Amino acid sequence: MSAWRSLKENWLQPFLFFGNNLLSLIGGAITTASAFVLIGFWIVSIFGHGGSSNPYLGIVLDLFLPGLFILGLILIPIGIWLRRRQLIAAGQVPSVYPQIDLRNPVFRRGIETVIVITFINFVIVGTATYRGVAYMDSPHFCGQSCHVMAPQWAAFQVSPHSHVDCVQCHVGSGMKSYVQAKVNGTKQLIEVTFHTWPAPIRAPLNELRPARATCEECHSPTRFIGEKLLVKTTFGDDVKNSMTRTVLVLHLGGVDSVSHFTGIHGHHLNNFEYVATDNDAQTIIAVTAANPDGSKTEYVSSDSKGPVQGVHRTMDCMDCHNQATHVFQTAEEAVDEAMLDGTPSSALPFMHKEALQLIQAEYSSQAEASQKITAGLEDYYRTSYPDVFNSQRSNIDASARRLVAIYDRNVFPNMKVAWGTYPNNIGHMAYPGCFRCHDGNHATKDGKTLSNDCSLCHNLLATDETNPSVLNDLQLQNELHLQ
Ligand code: HEC
Ligand code: HEC
Ligand code: HEC
Ligand code: HEC
Ligand code: HEC
Repeated sequence: MSAWRSLKENWLQPFLFFGNNLLSLIGGAITTASAFVLIGFWIVSIFGHGGSSNPYLGIVLDLFLPGLFILGLILIPIGIWLRRRQLIAAGQVPSVYPQIDLRNPVFRRGIETVIVITFINFVIVGTATYRGVAYMDSPHFCGQSCHVMAPQWAAFQVSPHSHVDCVQCHVGSGMKSYVQAKVNGTKQLIEVTFHTWPAPIRAPLNELRPARATCEECHSPTRFIGEKLLVKTTFGDDVKNSMTRTVLVLHLGGVDSVSHFTGIHGHHLNNFEYVATDNDAQTIIAVTAANPDGSKTEYVSSDSKGPVQGVHRTMDCMDCHNQATHVFQTAEEAVDEAMLDGTPSSALPFMHKEALQLIQAEYSSQAEASQKITAGLEDYYRTSYPDVFNSQRSNIDASARRLVAIYDRNVFPNMKVAWGTYPNNIGHMAYPGCFRCHDGNHATKDGKTLSNDCSLCHNLLATDETNPSVLNDLQLQNELHLQ
């Protein structure tokens, strides 16, 4: 009883006495009001409406309101503290605070209410925090809340990983990674607020989580794939947009059933270390291969003069699959893919050539690009092929819309993302890719060169042929969509 008494006299009575001030009451009101809105929102979302699918709605409901709620809670003690200081200064603090009498049912109910509300507050803050965290982890938050992520968001949505959360690759598990990511995020928020973010945004591979903790959670590094057939379709710059095909079989390999490393996948995942002279690892001056017998072979580029210095890294999935998620196409790839789909139509004369010229021109914004690409295509056919322009108007308009979509998916002038800003390391045609090492210029001290023999990586069965006989042999000659 005496503990209760001292609690009552030293804490509760003064709390009620000092709490009766404007600031604390406003605090209480803010807290209660935001709590009602939050509870209302949760009830609505339980019944399947609302939710955080819109990123801005999400920011309000999952971050702003809980923030307000906590602000209210903080205001209450500040008000109490200020009033107490004021009264002490004025010498108006009573020696005995107004009585609390537990036998008084009105008062007892008051205390019970305070306890119940405190409990509810606890539940609300807890749930709100949980939801806030879950929301910040959703791709909508990462990709859409912040327009500087627009390029990566656009590429993510059409990638094979569009259902993998951003945080699964970008944030480690455990408290340390979580805090690290939020500190990083706050820094980025400040950069965005003050327009000081670096454009284009880069993510040096060394700053990402290692593949073991990301890719390999879902893909086994020891899966044996063996040979993979690839068919590349391209359209020409001639009047007929002639279609040709390149057919190759990639030696993907893997780790076979007797633990041999074979082919592309097998060899590189066996602890290869390389040294790059730039952050994007586009210039690799040395690579050390681990041999099955435990020895090592170092290949150094003939371009490297003096000691080998730079960023060291052990090769993993992301050194080749740097664009497994954020796939930025080249203009040629994008137009070829679209024409294979039928829009832009290859029946329109010189479509391939015109399309590439229009989407590769420089524009100051996506809006300007949209307007000029559409007008440019119409002008071309109106002046060069008036008959086609009159008879195929809807075809030309649909083609223009598709070209604008291709531009919007790959080029972001406000983020300084142009064609080719983000290199893709698979292959060697548009970017150095495999040839960062396999360029025939990397050799050991005793003169053994890292092979760039064409058949090391693939068998080229047809190169830019109109009607490759190998597709006839495979009875695939009528299949348009081959990869
Ligand atoms: C499956 C793994 C994976 C997922 C999921 C993923 N990323 Fe990435 N992200 C990467 C890799 C790998 C890179 C490094 C690319 C490079 O070096 O070229 C990267 C790079 C980036 C970059 C730096 C720019 C660049 O392209 O190099 C940004 C920004 C980014 N990601 C944002 C996001 C956002 C936002 C999401 C979710 C909408 C997301 N990422 C989902 C793997 C992933
Ligand atoms: C959460 C699971 C998950 C993670 C993590 C993940 N992937 Fe995938 N990945 C998948 C699934 C599922 C597919 C198949 C998607 C499909 O076929 O539509 C896939 C497909 C792929 C493909 C084939 C793409 C294609 O166009 O056929 C590659 C390459 C790939 N992933 C590489 C990676 C790399 C590299 C990483 C790490 C940066 C990674 N994945 C992380 C689940 C994952
Ligand atoms: C030396 C470069 C390199 C490394 C390292 C590498 N890959 Fe690949 N991977 C390739 C190439 C090249 C292809 C074929 C690309 C294509 O289909 O266009 C490929 C294809 C794939 C595919 C698609 C397979 C299919 O059946 O179509 C998956 C999935 C994949 N890789 C996952 C991974 C994972 C996971 C890792 C890390 C454990 C990894 N890769 C490491 C080069 C690499
Ligand atoms: C960082 C440097 C580096 C990059 C990038 C690289 N490789 Fe390699 N690759 C090596 C080294 C080193 C070896 C092993 C040479 C040896 O056995 O001494 C190797 C071996 C291979 C082999 C096996 C050769 C054999 O003996 O069977 C193939 C196939 C191969 N690479 C294909 C590729 C492909 C395809 C790519 C691009 C997707 C690529 N490599 C990118 C360094 C690299
Ligand atoms: C180190 C491995 C490697 C070597 C060596 C290599 N290539 Fe390739 N090449 C690749 C890979 C990987 C791809 C598939 C890229 C993709 O998946 O889009 C490719 C694709 C191609 C393509 C089709 C490209 C396209 O987009 O149309 C051609 C053509 C080609 N290679 C020609 C050659 C020739 C010719 C040589 C010999 C001078 C050669 N390659 C040597 C790895 C290699």
